[in-house]
Amino acid sequence: MQPEIAQYYQRGGEASRLGAGAGRWEFLRTWDLLTRILPAGPLSVLDVGGATGVYAGPLAAAGHEVHLVDPMPEHVAAAAALPGVTACVGDARALAEPDASRDAVLLFGPLYHLVERADRIAAWREAARVVRPGGLVIAATISRYASLLDGYARGYVRHPTFAGMLETTLSTGVHRNIDEDQRWFTTAYFHHPDELPGEVAEAGLTLERRVAVEGPLWMLPDLAEILADEARRTQALALLRTVEAEPHLWGASSHLLTVARRAA
Ligand SMILES: C[S@@+](CC[C@H](N)C(=O)[O-])C[C@H]1O[C@@H](n2cnc3c(N)ncnc32)[C@H](O)[C@@H]1O
Repeated sequence: MQPEIAQYYQRGGEASRLGAGAGRWEFLRTWDLLTRILPAGPLSVLDVGGATGVYAGPLAAAGHEVHLVDPMPEHVAAAAALPGVTACVGDARALAEPDASRDAVLLFGPLYHLVERADRIAAWREAARVVRPGGLVIAATISRYASLLDGYARGYVRHPTFAGMLETTLSTGVHRNIDEDQRWFTTAYFHHPDELPGEVAEAGLTLERRVAVEGPLWMLPDLAEILADEARRTQALALLRTVEAEPHLWGASSHLLTVARRAA
């Protein structure tokens, strides 16, 4: 892991990132999708890049056997303290897991930080190796346009350094925070939705579907009020379900989930 990425996560933000605002939206939608995508369990799930166990904890509570792998020892320690979750330090590109040993492999994070395509393919191939024949690999990626949308909503685009970084991100997908004094997101790769079928195919997996996580509504200024109001939250989640598979809206979602299957 590159030092600036480790330094970013050493600040400890992952423990609370999904607790409020757009992060809460991301969690609620991801969980809603996961519960519909995963087959009936109990399953043996490998959560690669699982951080502090934000999904591993609820998956274990739902009866699945969950093992989490993450390069950050601080994340692993927090995850391992969750009931029913085991965890170890590791890298998505070289997993210490046996072949065909899991019903499902989650890649919710590693593909964000592998800027070289060869590294992303290595992570996909490792997931494909570890999942059993007929099992699922579910990967999260950040949208090529997330930096523009988030940067505009938060006013970052008015900063000339950010504006320059954004130009590079939009044309190459590579995001690098070149101003260490600014707490912008660290080194990352932002996918165009059209890149996912090729990555899946190179790993020898079959693409089943791509779905938007947050959809196009995650920058609303009154998101906190919507989340706090059960009727509005329920309606928003229901509406987003109806458009999650609409390709014309994928790029406007901060995250995309790609669901791929190993041949039986
Ligand atoms: C933004 S966090 C996402 C955490 C959580 N899975 C989620 O969806 O909210 C990205 C995670 O990926 C991990 N990560 C970064 N590079 C990785 C790699 N090469 N292999 C495995 N995990 C990696 C980071 O340590 C971090 O925990």
